[in-house]
Amino acid sequence: MKTTTGKPAGAMVGAWLMVAASAAFAQTGASPAFDAQDKSDARAIESLARARNCMTCHATDRTLLAPSYRDIAKRYAGKPGAAEELARSIADGSRGKWGSLPMPAGLQLAPGEANRLARWILGMSR
Ligand code: HEC
Repeated sequence: MKTTTGKPAGAMVGAWLMVAASAAFAQTGASPAFDAQDKSDARAIESLARARNCMTCHATDRTLLAPSYRDIAKRYAGKPGAAEELARSIADGSRGKWGSLPMPAGLQLAPGEANRLARWILGMSR
């Protein structure tokens, strides 16, 4: 049997879906920095959180030493400036907002990482 197909169909469809998804996204205009980008590399951000030791004290769904990311996301859901506030806590540490235990500063984050982590956590309220 002879195959005459040029490009693999799967790759084409995949590429098209990506274009369609970003186009749909651009149309809604709803917090673009939030969803599309960060959802697609949520896995990468999770490994970043691991690499930065965030998961030593935090878990997604359970309270460990620290509040769960979902509880944090729920408390800040819909709050203006939430991403900035959380990014600041992540970079500079936090105390007195959740309990008696403080979160230390100096977790050795590269520029922009606090922001990415904050937006990733906020995305968990849904
Ligand atoms: C040594 C334990 C520990 C580590 C490591 C840690 N946290 Fe925390 N985190 C806490 C505690 C405890 C709190 C609650 C602080 C408070 O009551 O204000 C907290 C609070 C937070 C909050 C909520 C802050 C607010 O303003 O309400 C966020 C977001 C957060 N952590 C993210 C992270 C991220 C991301 C990392 C990794 C870069 C991280 N944490 C690493 C213990 C930790």
